[in-house]
Amino acid sequence: MRIFLDTANIEEIREAGKLGVVSGVTTNPSLVAKEERADLKAVIQEISSIIDGPISAEVLSTEPEAMITEAKELSSWSPNVVVKIPVSAKGLEATSALSKEGIKVNFTLCFSLNQAILGALAGAKYVSPFVGRLDDVGHDGMQLVAEIVKVFQLYDFSTEVIAASIRHPLHCIAAAKAGAHIATVPYPVLIQMIRHPLTDVGVARFAQDWQRVASRI
Ligand code: E4P
Repeated sequence: MRIFLDTANIEEIREAGKLGVVSGVTTNPSLVAKEERADLKAVIQEISSIIDGPISAEVLSTEPEAMITEAKELSSWSPNVVVKIPVSAKGLEATSALSKEGIKVNFTLCFSLNQAILGALAGAKYVSPFVGRLDDVGHDGMQLVAEIVKVFQLYDFSTEVIAASIRHPLHCIAAAKAGAHIATVPYPVLIQMIRHPLTDVGVARFAQDWQRVASRI
């Protein structure tokens, strides 16, 4: 499983980039707005200069023609850009047209297996099931991820599954076990993935023991 960072915060992307484990970034309009930045082009280009991998940027248009035009504009900003298109009939129309032209689409806001299958059939490079938001309404988000992975394997679909709306480290473990190609994680969750109290205790004890002997020499 690969790790993408789910944020539009440049500092977080810079810090996470140093770890050498992040191979892409996903943004959405809410994440960009959270940074109080309206210069989407500058944000996406800055992210592309830090992370050498797919950077998802979402369209806001709602009609297929407008989505296609907007998607082409977004993808002209950097070769890394993947265009996020939300699930809908119009979104499918746009996804299919863009995929035929070689523009990579992340079919987003996916909450059912049927939506994921349709995204794959339309040629999307990625589908993004939103795990946390499903959990929030009493559904098992990770079960959906597992079902999508299984069905895509059954039919040899090349579309990759991004486990999105990840809220905590257990989601990452479950996404890996479910066979998700990618988990897109908020920065704090990435940091939580690294940490373990026993590692901290172990490092402190090693230092203490060494210090005890070293001080005698
Ligand atoms: C994924 O591409 C989305 O940006 C993201 O995972 C949404 O997560 P949220 O439910 O925490 O907003």
